[in-house]
Amino acid sequence: MRSAIFGSLALIGALAGNVLAHDHHDDEFVGQMPIVSGPSELPTAFDRPVLERDGYVPSFSGISTFAHLPYLKCWDEGIVEDYDIAVMGAPYDIGVTFRTGARFGPSGIREGSKRIKGYNTEVGVNTFRSWAKMVDCGDIPFEPFDAGHAMKQIEDYTKYLLQRPPTEDGATPEIPRLITLGGDHTVLLPVLRAMRHAYGKPITVIHFDSHLDTWAPEIYNVKAPGSRFNHGNPLYHASKEGLTANGTSMHVGIRSTLYDHNDFKRDEALGFNIIKANDIFKLGVDGIVERMQEILGPKDDSLVYLSIDIDVIDPSMAPATGTPETGGFLTREMRYILRGLEGYNIIAADVVEVSPPFDTQAQLTSFLAADLIYEIMSMMVKRGP
Ligand SMILES: *[C@@H]1O[C@H](CO)[C@@H](O)[C@H](O)[C@H]1NC(C)=O
Repeated sequence: MRSAIFGSLALIGALAGNVLAHDHHDDEFVGQMPIVSGPSELPTAFDRPVLERDGYVPSFSGISTFAHLPYLKCWDEGIVEDYDIAVMGAPYDIGVTFRTGARFGPSGIREGSKRIKGYNTEVGVNTFRSWAKMVDCGDIPFEPFDAGHAMKQIEDYTKYLLQRPPTEDGATPEIPRLITLGGDHTVLLPVLRAMRHAYGKPITVIHFDSHLDTWAPEIYNVKAPGSRFNHGNPLYHASKEGLTANGTSMHVGIRSTLYDHNDFKRDEALGFNIIKANDIFKLGVDGIVERMQEILGPKDDSLVYLSIDIDVIDPSMAPATGTPETGGFLTREMRYILRGLEGYNIIAADVVEVSPPFDTQAQLTSFLAADLIYEIMSMMVKRGP
């Protein structure tokens, strides 16, 4: 069969050669045809790269999944394959106040993740060769025309990923850990609703951002009901809905202007602590980590969600974002601070507000977003199942 097909191709090729090639090219054309040999001459063994046993493909090749993880159609009915850590994209950007483009975040971050593999020298684990089975589920296929409907779809698709049937012995089933690639920060709300549903209690949110994201809609979005949900207020709604743990949740990296000094008071009333970007001068990176640990309390009891708005990083290092604010953390500071959370029970994380159309030619922001996720995955693996 193979040889018959190859034979036909050769014939078509030869005919095309006769029709298209100029006379003096005829011999050359036929001479280049690689498919005239018989089946016995087809290669049967390939010169495989030494690392192929680990699923190795060259960094620059392969179909884009996060860090070359296997793609699983997680939402297809009848999928029985289980996983410990799932990556999903939520390419929603209809809630932004300034630059759009975060709908290209998931594909940009996946592209930026292509060189990630192997051993994390600071955390001390081989992130992709461990007890944890990791998959990339692709993107949630929501419809991007009706914000409320899209948010409900994101919530339902996330719930589906997290749900597990009760085990036969009645033990609590392991809920997979989740990494969400945004999307604008609105996606935090439907994802947190799904987390709250899966875990049955409020979640401690560590929110890295230059903005508070707790704009009060009763002040700033009074007229159109649909505008009550936007990328400036996911944590307002999350707190009001009882999704976030009061007192242990926090914003880190705050530095944007506010409409009004009362925004700080309103934020405090929602149960959040604040570590400002400028605190790094007085506290240093270790001091910031210590302050975070004080707020979080004991590691064993923790249930932590990390939500990273890429605009927490200085725009000189992460320009591709919707609402950049100067005066932010450097990438090395951010990675160091993140690793200070080792040992906490990080059940999920997101990196949002990456808008690749505004990135540099060198894809700085996408690389950074992917590296931050890698640090988080490494800590998830280090802590164990
Ligand atoms: C958080 O807890 C404090 C102290 O118990 C309480 O005064 C406040 O109302 C709580 N806030 C929320 C949003 O639950």
